Amino acid sequence: MTHPALDAVGLEKRYRGRAVVAGVSFALGRGEVLGLIGPNGAGKTTTIRMISGATRPSAGRVTIDGHDLATDAIEARRRIGYLPEHAPLYDEMRVSDYLRLRARLKGVARADVHARVDGALERLDLGGVRRRVIGELSKGFRQRVGLAAAIVGRPVVLVLDEPTVGLDPAQGRQFRALIDELRADHAIVISSHALVELERLADRVVFIANGRQLVAGTTAALRARLPVGRVVMRALGVTDALVAELDDDARVVACAVERGADGSTSVALSVRDDDVQSWVGARAFAHGATVVELVAERPGLEALFHELLETDGAR
Ligand SMILES: Nc1ncnc2c1ncn2[C@@H]1O[C@H](COP(=O)(O)OP(=O)(O)OP(=O)(O)O)[C@@H](O)[C@H]1O
Ligand SMILES: [Mg+2]
Repeated sequence: MTHPALDAVGLEKRYRGRAVVAGVSFALGRGEVLGLIGPNGAGKTTTIRMISGATRPSAGRVTIDGHDLATDAIEARRRIGYLPEHAPLYDEMRVSDYLRLRARLKGVARADVHARVDGALERLDLGGVRRRVIGELSKGFRQRVGLAAAIVGRPVVLVLDEPTVGLDPAQGRQFRALIDELRADHAIVISSHALVELERLADRVVFIANGRQLVAGTTAALRARLPVGRVVMRALGVTDALVAELDDDARVVACAVERGADGSTSVALSVRDDDVQSWVGARAFAHGATVVELVAERPGLEALFHELLETDGAR
């Protein structure tokens, strides 16, 4: 029987009777990256703490590689690597000593610790700072040490809470490239309030707001739900026949025409398909129009998220 690397079912967390997270469910396989997206206070950290065993859900169940986090805690926890929002590193420790400690805490056998620490240092390109004291390192390096500590136990599931906060854009890109390398060996959950950051990385996305799951699914399926893209063409010699042909196509949802004072015409199409752009150009050419400008705009998943947030807020 196969089971997902991570299975979270009906997670709920109540503090003093108030549910700060409710009805969060998702599953994730090895090799997949899941983006947990939500605004400040949405319940991302609370959800992440529940799936990494840092706090007990008030209701619901978490299974790690088939091991129930509540009833089979030791086996489940061994398979989780967790990088908290504010990674509590020991500032006075040397990098390699800290990783050794974390490996032992994850139950790595004494004889294997050395090799595991070396492996993590190499993976995160930290060999050059292995003897350095953690407190002296830059933010980017500290974050890599935190990630090394999270992977040193070779977890099945790697859980990262807003790992790129406080990194500069170059460090952020480096960090995402690293995650992309790590996906081969782990199922990875990353929380963020900015989906744009994760859009290319995530195979699955869970949107939460006010502790509730608005939508969850594969990035591809969510993209397919996206309302529409736009194609805007400015051209000379646009005839009514051309406009009618464009407007009649099944992929075109709406068509707005604006005649400019300079004799050019602007045609803005709302389309259901990305690939309409070259077809529009070809039809214009066939109708004898001269294309001045032809651009396609595609809304990102962030647009879908905001749309969901608005409809959620209106309820
Ligand atoms: N220990 C706690 N006791 C009471 N309420 C809590 C506790 N921890 C979190 N909360 C509340 O739960 C809600 C969700 O918080 P959480 O930290 O999970 O959000 P988040 O999505 O991680 O936000 P951020 O983007 O700011 O990190 C907040 O309203 C917070 O005040
Ligand atoms: Mg948080």
